[in-house]
Amino acid sequence: MHLIGTPCAERLFRGARGMSAPTGAFTMETAPDGRRRMRSPPAAGTSGGGHVAERPTIGIFGAGKVGTALARLLVDAGYEVALAGSPRQTALELLVSVVAPGARVADAAHLADESDVIVVAVPFGKAPTVPWNAFDGKVVVDATNYWPPVDGHIPDVDADERTTSEIHAALNPAARVVKSLNHLGYHDMEDDPMPSGSPLRRAIAVVGDDADARAAVARIIDDLGFDPVDGGALGNGRALEPGHPAFGRELSARELASLLEAERAVAA
Ligand SMILES: NC(=O)c1ccc[n+]([C@@H]2O[C@H](COP(=O)([O-])OP(=O)(O)OC[C@H]3O[C@@H](n4cnc5c(N)ncnc54)[C@H](OP(=O)(O)O)[C@@H]3O)[C@@H](O)[C@H]2O)c1
Repeated sequence: MHLIGTPCAERLFRGARGMSAPTGAFTMETAPDGRRRMRSPPAAGTSGGGHVAERPTIGIFGAGKVGTALARLLVDAGYEVALAGSPRQTALELLVSVVAPGARVADAAHLADESDVIVVAVPFGKAPTVPWNAFDGKVVVDATNYWPPVDGHIPDVDADERTTSEIHAALNPAARVVKSLNHLGYHDMEDDPMPSGSPLRRAIAVVGDDADARAAVARIIDDLGFDPVDGGALGNGRALEPGHPAFGRELSARELASLLEAERAVAA
């Protein structure tokens, strides 16, 4: 999959100093034990399912373009990362040692047990083949996209009014599903990271029904070099899907938060 580039003009609108934080901005706070934690804005209003380790172990299902790019970036950012590939994939150890050195290969049956945060980075139609029943209580980042030019038309999905991540979340209601990392290309993940506070830093949205899970994913996104934007509930994820306003666009946190708010207003 190749996501469309964005007009440079959008970059020019970025991060003007002195502007207030966008509505969907996460904030960092220092806990009594001195540790720093990402917090969702109070307006998000959903209850959290519990604290996630400050530096979670990350398990990625899918060792393709997105899975390996993410693994590489996460290892660089200091995370412990394991990948489980497709049953058809051979020489995965060799592939991972070359394209994501420092990440390890795990057995799909055990990856969830070994991970605090799981990323599903498999083709949309293959998402039901990951072991959702092992995801109870886990933060699960759904990075998949239903994109008929690539995935073909799936009549049940076409007829379903839920967002694609709500469809996946229903595979295990005890999983703390967050939709994120899906609306930019894997090459953008590699090319566009910038330090926090950079005026041209690009934003990535985080939607999900569990506020603690959203905050945990936001922290990871910040560590990857992007501004996380809190989009609230999982049902708000439509704006991030292919063919919708945030998909493939290069946006600042302010622009992405405004866009998500506008989409919510239209949907209400
Ligand atoms: N490419 C992008 O820029 C981009 C950006 C954001 C999000 N996404 C989304 O992320 C997902 C992955 O995209 P991609 O471009 O990385 O695809 P990809 O290069 O085809 O890689 C996906 C990999 O997942 C494997 N897989 C299938 N079922 C699996 C399972 N149960 N467990 C572990 N691995 C499994 C596939 O193997 P088989 O070939 O054997 O099925 C393939 O090796 C898609 O839903 C896509 O829409 C893509």
